[in-house]
Amino acid sequence: MAEIPWETDGRQPSARFKIFVASGPSGELSSLAKGLEDEFEVVVQSIQEVKLNTIVQSNSDVVLLPASEKSLALSRQIKTGPIGPFTLVIIVGELDTLPSPEQLWESEADDFIKLPVTCECLRLKLRAQLRSQERLRAAVERVWTLNAEIQRINRELEILAETRFQEIIEVRDLTIFALAKLAESRDPETGEHLERMRWYSRIIAEELSIGFTVKEDIPSRFAEEIFRCAPLHDIGKVGIPDSILLKPGRLTPQEFEVMKQHTVIGYQALREALQKNPAGSFLARAAEIARSHHERFDGTGYPDGLAGKSIPLAARVVTVADVFDALTSPRIYKKAIDPDVAKSIILREAGTQFDPDVVAAFERRWKDISAVGEPYWQQIPAEKLQQSFAEFRGVNAPSITTDTAPMAQQAVPF
Ligand SMILES: [Fe+2]
Ligand SMILES: [Fe+2]
Repeated sequence: MAEIPWETDGRQPSARFKIFVASGPSGELSSLAKGLEDEFEVVVQSIQEVKLNTIVQSNSDVVLLPASEKSLALSRQIKTGPIGPFTLVIIVGELDTLPSPEQLWESEADDFIKLPVTCECLRLKLRAQLRSQERLRAAVERVWTLNAEIQRINRELEILAETRFQEIIEVRDLTIFALAKLAESRDPETGEHLERMRWYSRIIAEELSIGFTVKEDIPSRFAEEIFRCAPLHDIGKVGIPDSILLKPGRLTPQEFEVMKQHTVIGYQALREALQKNPAGSFLARAAEIARSHHERFDGTGYPDGLAGKSIPLAARVVTVADVFDALTSPRIYKKAIDPDVAKSIILREAGTQFDPDVVAAFERRWKDISAVGEPYWQQIPAEKLQQSFAEFRGVNAPSITTDTAPMAQQAVPF
């Protein structure tokens, strides 16, 4: 196999180019082809025998066709087929046998050579065409390589961005939870209250998102946001003096008014944080929960006395989860209520304290709620468990709340 005496795109090809020659009746093309054999790998076949498949399988770089109807049809098939971009098609013919310019154009051939032509002239023509073809091929290969490289880098960047994003989310969630825990730590009896109530909230929010009963617009990722924000509901308690927050006895009306302020304090702190970082949209959700988790569906809650659906949905969800966990947890001033009894209390308060839609979602997902609470409920010592609903009813107060134990001191769950 002879070396090619010229370079393509500055590189010496290691293999010879392959020329497929379809010889016409005059036989001139086949004798020209013989003169090219020193430089190219030449395959000659009579045009009568040539089929498209033969050309495709020959894997040739150049196809020389004699000017004829069949050649024009073959040329068009080659150039419009899969090998078209990589195969040069040249029509060769005498002046009087060459098809019309329109026919030649429609054949999509790459070039037209008029006979008679010398072997050296044909050689130069082929070299020029092949050099252009090689440069084009090299450029395409570079584009493919660069494209593959860009795609690889993009994939790496996407993975990196996703990893960083997850890290930021995790750090943010941990920070939020640590903050909420800090606030909660002033009330050492609440145990894993935040952890349980955020799960109850999530389960209810998921059920609402399915949209069986609630006709409200529920944002995407609502349940996930609630899960993150719910632990912050009582963050404002850090602003309540110990003398009130930890008071073992009944709160005076004035003290209760101070206690109620934990909703507004929490809201303001979270709103300020949101103003410093408007991108932290979850803070807006956390702020509305902090402010409105003591609102009641009948409008008798605090701090704003909102009623019905004007209470933010997130707060309507969290309040059910919060109260339910408070009911089923023992405190120094009360026993824990049996979960089934606590459930019936929640159902009973639908439409008065709680949004009936939220309560319905709570009831529908009772199995999942119980699964979250069960490990904790089983650990509660018997002496800290209220024995019956009657026992509870005997001491029940009209309002169920979670923050005002000393105010009531009536064994209502807090
Ligand atoms: Fe609260
Ligand atoms: Fe709570």
